[in-house]
Order: sequence, then structure tokens, then C-alpha cells
Amino acid sequence: MHKYKDFLKIICEIAVNLNVKTETGSLPKCILAIESSCDDTSAAVIRDGKLLSNVTHTQEVHEAYGGVVPELASRAHQSAIIPIIDAALKQANCEKEEVQAIAVTRGPGLMGSLLVGVSVAKGLALAWDIPIIEVHHMEAHILAHFIDEPKPEFPFLCLTVSGGHTQLVKVLSTDDFELLGSTLDDAAGEAFDKTGKMLGLPYPAGPEIDRLAQQGQAVFEFPIPKVAGFDFSFSGLKTAILYFLRDQKKKDTDFISKNLANICASVQSTIIKILTQRLQAAAQQTGLKDIALAGGVSANSGLRSAVRQQAETNQWRLFIPQLQYCTDNAGMIAMAAWYRRSAENYVSLRFTPSPRMTMGQR
Ligand code: KG4
Ligand code: ZN
Repeated sequence: MHKYKDFLKIICEIAVNLNVKTETGSLPKCILAIESSCDDTSAAVIRDGKLLSNVTHTQEVHEAYGGVVPELASRAHQSAIIPIIDAALKQANCEKEEVQAIAVTRGPGLMGSLLVGVSVAKGLALAWDIPIIEVHHMEAHILAHFIDEPKPEFPFLCLTVSGGHTQLVKVLSTDDFELLGSTLDDAAGEAFDKTGKMLGLPYPAGPEIDRLAQQGQAVFEFPIPKVAGFDFSFSGLKTAILYFLRDQKKKDTDFISKNLANICASVQSTIIKILTQRLQAAAQQTGLKDIALAGGVSANSGLRSAVRQQAETNQWRLFIPQLQYCTDNAGMIAMAAWYRRSAENYVSLRFTPSPRMTMGQR
């Protein structure tokens, strides 16, 4: 036992020394990024500020469960992560000797999932004698807007809508984020996924609800929650859908199958109303005209066209990243790390994942 502790101590000291050694060097030009916060295992390479690869493996093991099963997620990350890193290096035509820093998502996310990415990052940093840059997952979703042209100008307003988070953020710089509002309970993606579970759709249900909604009409009405400020709430909608389906099924046991497209269209239109109303209010109050959408739910075709319409009416410049950079991906982690690649942002190998990491927390 003592020997093991001594061994750990030595490893930590070596690690700290390694980081000290690299702190004095010049800025890294080539960074390998790792993302494993939820159910996507992803790796990317950025060189000279240009993203060269972004390889993502989405876990299918959760389909039958209606949501991400944390233990299954971390096991799936373990088996996928090395081949994914390998593929990202190959796609970027990058030799491991060229990598000068490792970027990794520290949080927020699932502890077991984060731990896989962080452990691999530490192992590579130690083996390759290079520093680690920690990245905040939600900041990275926002900084995905800087991967491609055109880029928004600071300050801009970003609505980040994902499976775990719903946030309205005033983005002042690549390092300065003012949180204007966030969800008090479920995230927008969760509202899609939990509705899908009630309708018997596989996880993640967002894309399927999106597809079905295009074949239906929003004929059923669900309540819009009254929440102060720029915060969001989706749990009331979830309960309203549950009771609505229960009551309708009492009258007709085949209600769901007969009305699936209309139910999807109605739920989707309610979620879009909740999101666009808040976005409108925040844009008005801040006076910002550069408006950005981020996160997996920004793939939703109904939300995209509703916000495009809003942008036209309000003369906003609207920014939505390519689909591969909207859902969880290491490309956005690489981009965020690029802006944080100076020595003061390197972390010691003693750092641990932070499942509830808040924006700006270092
Ligand atoms: O950003 P993301 O990949 O992961 C998290 O950080 O959570 O977002 C995943 C979420 C899931 O809830 C999924 O159902 C939702 O994004 N999603 C969609 C669509 N594509 C993905 N929701 C609605 N419509 C879509 N087309
Ligand atoms: Zn995400």
C-alpha cells in the first residue's frame, strides 16, 4: 500500500515538473482535443488555428433506455476513445510527435464519461511530455462559431440548446461569458427526448420528432411556462404531455399511433415558442444584433426556420454552426483550447473532472 502511494507521489511530481517545463515554451501550434462528457466520443486536431479533423462516435447502446445510462456511457467511451484519437490524427495527417498540447473537456458532464477523456488526456500528456488545456463544454459549444466563416462579432448573444443544457449567454470575448438565463429544470433536448420516450421513440428522440413533425400539424395546445427573467423551464411541459396522452389514451387506446405526427408537431412548436420568446426578449434587452445558435437542438429544422424568420424580422445577423459542430464534438473543444493555449491555462496532472463545472470556473 505504501509502495503504491509512493509510486503515485513520484508520478504526480514528474507530471507537475513536466508541466512546469513546458510552461516556459512557446505557444503550441498543434493541439489534439478530446471530448467525452456525455454519449459522444470525439477527437479532433487543430493546427495554426485551423481545424484539421473532427471524428465523433455516437454511442448507440442507450437507444433502448430513453436516455443516457452513465455506466454504459463510460464503458463505451473506454472502448472507442483510442481508435477515435487514432482516426483524428490520421485524418489530420498528423504524427503524434507533432502534437504540442492535449485539450480535454473537464466539465460539465457525467463523471464516469469525463473521467475517461481526462484519464486518456493525462496518459498522453505524460507519455508525450506535453501540457494539458482544460476546456468548459458549454463555452466550447459557443466557440464552435469560430471554426468556420463567417464568425460573429463580440459582443453577441448565443442560445445554447443541448441535451443537458439550455442557456442564453452574452458572449463578450472568447474568454468572457455572461450567463443571462438557463433552464431551471429540464433542458430543451431533454424535453424532446422525454417526449420521445412517452411516444415509444428510441433515444435520442429529437431528430425523429423533428422528422415526424414535418408530416404533421401543431393541432394540440400545450402551456407555455411563466418564468421570470431569461430562464427556461420544460418540466411543466413534460407533465402536461404525460397527462394529455394519458387522458387521450383512455378515450382511444390507439391515440398515439393515429396522431403521432400531429403530437410531434405540437410538442416541437411549443418548445420552439418557449425558446424563441426568450431569445427575442434577450436580444431586445441587450440590443445585440449578432445572434448565434449552438448545441444539438439547433439541428432542429423547425427551430432553425423559426429563428431565421425572427432574424429577418429583427435584422439580426444569424450564426448556426455546421451540424457536426452543433452536436457534441471535439472540434469545438479544439477551437476553445486554441484561444486558451497560453501557459497560464495549462493544468497540473493532478486536476480532476468537474461534472458541475460552471462557466468561467478554472
Ligand atoms: O449538444 P448535444 O449533442 O449533447 C449534449 O450536450 O447534450 O445535444 C443532444 C441533444 C439530444 O437531446 C437530441 O435529442 C437533440 O440534441 N437533438 C435534436 C435534434 N438533433 C439532436 N433535437 C431536436 N431536433 C433535432 N433535429
Ligand atoms: Zn453538449
